Amino acid sequence: MTVLVTTPNGAVGRHVAAALRDRSDVRFLVRSEASARALGAVRGEVVRGDATVAADVRRAVAGVDRLFLAHPYAADQVAAETAVGLAAVAAGARRVVKLGARPFAGPGIVPDAVTGAHDEVTARLRAAGVPELTVLRPDRFLENFLPSAAAIAQGTLADPAGAAGARGYVDVRDIAEVAVAELLAERPVGGEIDLSGPESLTLADLADRFAAALGRPVRYVDVPLDEAWRAGLLDRGVPPGVVDGLRDLYANYRAEGVAGLGDGVRRVLGRAPRSAADFAREVLVPAAAGAGLPRAPEAPRA
Ligand SMILES: NC(=O)c1ccc[n+]([C@@H]2O[C@H](COP(=O)([O-])OP(=O)(O)OC[C@H]3O[C@@H](n4cnc5c(N)ncnc54)[C@H](OP(=O)(O)O)[C@@H]3O)[C@@H](O)[C@H]2O)c1
Repeated sequence: MTVLVTTPNGAVGRHVAAALRDRSDVRFLVRSEASARALGAVRGEVVRGDATVAADVRRAVAGVDRLFLAHPYAADQVAAETAVGLAAVAAGARRVVKLGARPFAGPGIVPDAVTGAHDEVTARLRAAGVPELTVLRPDRFLENFLPSAAAIAQGTLADPAGAAGARGYVDVRDIAEVAVAELLAERPVGGEIDLSGPESLTLADLADRFAAALGRPVRYVDVPLDEAWRAGLLDRGVPPGVVDGLRDLYANYRAEGVAGLGDGVRRVLGRAPRSAADFAREVLVPAAAGAGLPRAPEAPRA
């Protein structure tokens, strides 16, 4: 058996790669020498290539039986994911574990390109008759807040998803564990697997969880989806089409209200999902400390 892992330095992919780095039957697709270095030592094979370059894709999928398929939201996502997925199947792969996204439900939801990209890739894979297809459909990642760890530790959780909605923010370590289980199982669960944390949280609730772990007050601040928000993303080099897709995505987060929870972690791994408090303690607090912010003083011992 050969497993191909795409985006092995990605948000979920890095944890998939970490779980598979000691296996000799795994191949990792990286775009550059820097990505290969970031991946670090692995027992399997590292293939240099770009998911948008046909010759690279052909080399990457040769002899592959199982595929972890992921790609960031970008103009080339549908083309890249479809190319890798279909090439793998044409080369004889029987199993694809695709990283997708939880669909929105309810009134006021607009079609958004982020969700639409996953729908399109999934439809193309189904049409190609992938024998074993698992589509992971996670809610919002808790790890999205990591780049803001320093600001959060200083008291502000700023986010454009709005004060009203509540959802099951999910830890990417859980998504990756489910992905690895589906890749390696003799009989995968398969189909659509909805993944969330154990409880529906507003962003104010999330700020409270972070505050408890940090030992400091943290306040949620709503960021309106206005021209200033758009200009900020464009200044950071995000392409206008991607900004439009993100605006529609956030509009849906704001409109959805209380999102249902996914039972995928329990269905596949037989345990409860990690909580926001687990994430805050194990991931956010060390990241904030790494950003130069001291941990909260320990409580005096009796
Ligand atoms: N964030 C959320 O809350 C959330 C929630 C639900 C679903 N999702 C879905 O999760 C998926 C992953 O999103 P993400 O933003 O976290 O991205 P990501 O998984 O962190 O992906 C980034 C990685 O993709 C690799 N990559 C980019 N273009 C490539 C190419 N052309 N060929 C090969 N590798 C390429 C990069 O490689 P290099 O290291 O070489 O640059 C980088 O390591 C998206 O489809 C998103 O819709 C996200």
